[in-house]
Amino acid sequence: MPLAHLLTTKDLTDQGLQALLKESNTIVPHLGHRHDLTYTLPGRNIALVFFEPSTRTRLSFETAAHRLGASTALFQQAGSSIEKGETLLDTIQTIDAMKFDALVIRHGLDGTQAQIASTVSVPVISAGEGTKAHPTQGLLDASTLVEHYGTLEGMKLVIVGDVRHSRVARSQVDVCTRLGAEVAICAPSELLPQEHDFTHGLQTFHHVDEALEWCSVVSVLRLQRERFTDVDIHDLDAYRQRFSLTRERLERYPEMRMIHPGPVNPGVEIDHGLIQHPQSLIHRQVTHGVAMRMAVISRLLTQPSSIVSINKS
Ligand code: CP
Repeated sequence: MPLAHLLTTKDLTDQGLQALLKESNTIVPHLGHRHDLTYTLPGRNIALVFFEPSTRTRLSFETAAHRLGASTALFQQAGSSIEKGETLLDTIQTIDAMKFDALVIRHGLDGTQAQIASTVSVPVISAGEGTKAHPTQGLLDASTLVEHYGTLEGMKLVIVGDVRHSRVARSQVDVCTRLGAEVAICAPSELLPQEHDFTHGLQTFHHVDEALEWCSVVSVLRLQRERFTDVDIHDLDAYRQRFSLTRERLERYPEMRMIHPGPVNPGVEIDHGLIQHPQSLIHRQVTHGVAMRMAVISRLLTQPSSIVSINKS
């Protein structure tokens, strides 16, 4: 039987996308309570394989697996035998030989997830790959917005900041447009994506004031300096003046809501103190991260064809 992986949101069928949103929003009210969810994965063991730092994604995948009754084992690049010269492929094959039931993988290089998925014997779930995809982040963002608004149909969502280096933006655009939202981007020209496949046809703003005038929800991204190679933002004050979500800008539109995948750099892309602002859904996104990852792990391991199309050839 062919393996089902979740490497990008494009792996999901439209029915699968809807099923995950529904299931995740059903789980959310149960979080924080004991013994009121059925364990669907007792005896399963999931490897969390992180080649990059993470707080939210790693902890929420771990919590999600435990809430489903599965156990987890953690690999982190720092302190691993990669520091002694072991290759990525040898590391992955070593982990695969331990016979886990699934691998949750974060890696900083585009293309690694597909390479890994083609060599292992179990499902791979992306926990973020380079600038390419962060499928469960895009899903949990949509789930948070569905909880708040009931639907994404007709929503005007603008993604502001470092779109060029953002795997989150790529997953948000795919998920939110498929759910009926109108999506726009707002960034300085040097932080617009080079390839236009995922932004093709999207309205582009070059000043956050114009974007806020247009949208109903603002998705803010940090400057991902760890991925800056051929570009830089030299004048941070000028960047803030044109692209930062300040308290004054947010409060100009009391009905507007803000999302941010985290981690936040307060004082850069948003003002200090805005994470906790009543118009911020940032902590709600984190809660939805646990529920959505429960839905993804459970479905992929027990009924994969309900969410992804499995190529039988
Ligand atoms: N949003 C996100 O991926 O955060 P972490 O890097 O903390 O996992």
